Amino acid sequence: MSVQNNETSAILLQKKEGMVLNQTKKLSSTQINFLVDLIALVVFALLAAPQATAIPFHEWISFVFAPVFAIHILLHWKWIVETTQRIFKKLPGDTRFNYVWDIIIYLMMIFAFVSGVVISEVALPFIGVPIKVDPFWISLHDASSNLLLIMLGIHLAMHWDWIVGVIKRGFNRQTKEA
Ligand code: HEM
Ligand code: HEM
Repeated sequence: MSVQNNETSAILLQKKEGMVLNQTKKLSSTQINFLVDLIALVVFALLAAPQATAIPFHEWISFVFAPVFAIHILLHWKWIVETTQRIFKKLPGDTRFNYVWDIIIYLMMIFAFVSGVVISEVALPFIGVPIKVDPFWISLHDASSNLLLIMLGIHLAMHWDWIVGVIKRGFNRQTKEA
């Protein structure tokens, strides 16, 4: 009887240790989101200031931002699918607003990126495509990237409570999802 008890408690202890090990090693989804958001913010800040970094850096960093942005979207894929399914049903007002706003910033981001590639002075010549200075596309790129700054500001403001919450809890695992 006592041998059986000892075995059971040994198994329980092993399980507990395994769980503790898992908890300390694995990042929670909140922590992963926070890290990716932080990287996106830093890379975007560098991207949004070509006057400070010069155009070659601006163009190359935009290709670093693209995969970070893709990961940001993929990490929220479940939310995107679930909200799409519920968009014509009952939804909290801020979720509906975020959904529409995320679509608009997504389109603006793609537009800023595409117009950037059209006016590229470094990346396109690098792959052998000659430069064509087009003031129309330059003004579209300027306008879309400036709008993007304001739009991202609102995107961050909509998630301000979540950001402050994660920081206040000291980047703890047990945080609520956004
Ligand atoms: C510098 C760029 C960006 C930063 C720093 C940023 C930051 C954030 C933050 C803090 C959240 C909430 C916390 C989380 O779950 O991660 C979030 C959620 C989200 N972001 Fe972004 N974001 C950026 C760009 C974008 C863009 C361009 C889109 C366009 C589609 C987007 C789509 C989403 C989606 C779908 C969510 C989850 C749903 C929701 O809005 O609540 N993000 N983002
Ligand atoms: C979505 C990401 C992007 C953002 C937010 C962005 C932002 C900006 C900003 C704020 C400027 C300065 C505009 C001004 O002087 O008033 C600029 C200029 C420029 N960007 Fe981007 N950009 C992005 C992507 C790209 C890409 C992908 C390329 C090319 C591969 C590119 C190439 C350029 C070039 C060549 C200029 C100089 C235009 C000029 O002669 O005034 N950008 N960008």
